[in-house]
Amino acid sequence: MPVTIRTLKKRKDDGEKFSVLTAYDATFSRLISEAGVDAILIGDSLGNVIQGQDSTVPVTLEQMVYHTECVARGNQGSLIIADVPFMGAATLESTLDAATALMQAGANVIKLEGGAWLADAITVLKRNGVPVCAHMGLTPQSVNAFGGYRVQGKDEAGARELLDAAYTLDRAGAALFVLECVPRTLSAEITAAVEAPVIGIGAAPECDGQVLVMHDMLGLNPRPARFVKDFMAESDGGVAGAFRAYHEAVKSGRFPADEHCF
Ligand code: KIV
Ligand code: NA
Repeated sequence: MPVTIRTLKKRKDDGEKFSVLTAYDATFSRLISEAGVDAILIGDSLGNVIQGQDSTVPVTLEQMVYHTECVARGNQGSLIIADVPFMGAATLESTLDAATALMQAGANVIKLEGGAWLADAITVLKRNGVPVCAHMGLTPQSVNAFGGYRVQGKDEAGARELLDAAYTLDRAGAALFVLECVPRTLSAEITAAVEAPVIGIGAAPECDGQVLVMHDMLGLNPRPARFVKDFMAESDGGVAGAFRAYHEAVKSGRFPADEHCF
């Protein structure tokens, strides 16, 4: 049975964790979905790990569409989430154009970086049959505005703003959330507060699901972030074994541990 947004919502309501990994091509998409990983994200992190850029800012919609098509061909039943790239959500019109292209390329859900201002777009997209994942906290497309990759929601005002935005977008009809580099206690609070399942990265074990960039969890990043764990070390057989180990670690609540959180 293919994984849908209903599957993930049921997992949340039943208190069961779910796993997500990024993929950018058909071969890894097949391996990841066959390992039981619940969802695959075509992240604009492809700018970093595929293209060698130093941020996600240069990634285009055309490139996201191409990689989404590749991943969709290899997928064996995982939920496919595709990133709307830099400036894709600048206007409602551009948001709808990006969503159309990514859904027609094979995405089941599109992911938008931002905050409370995404509410209208989320409502319009939902009305048109497009589930949206709202990515909050450290939103890498805004690295230049943040002045670096930094943990978000650390002070009281920042924490309040994130929690309020989560409420607003949950009410607007967000299907999923990603929280990136948000303190553990705040991540847990947001996860408990919203109806939609929350996926963490550098967030909290209390999140409903977890995501990592595939190259990171295969130990291919020479300077991994704090929230990364190398699952090749506990693989029972190559790359496919590392995907299975990750899935099991997330399901059982063994990943992330304290050392992966802020
Ligand atoms: O682009 C990406 O891989 C992402 C995840 C890290 C959440 O947005
Ligand atoms: Na991304």
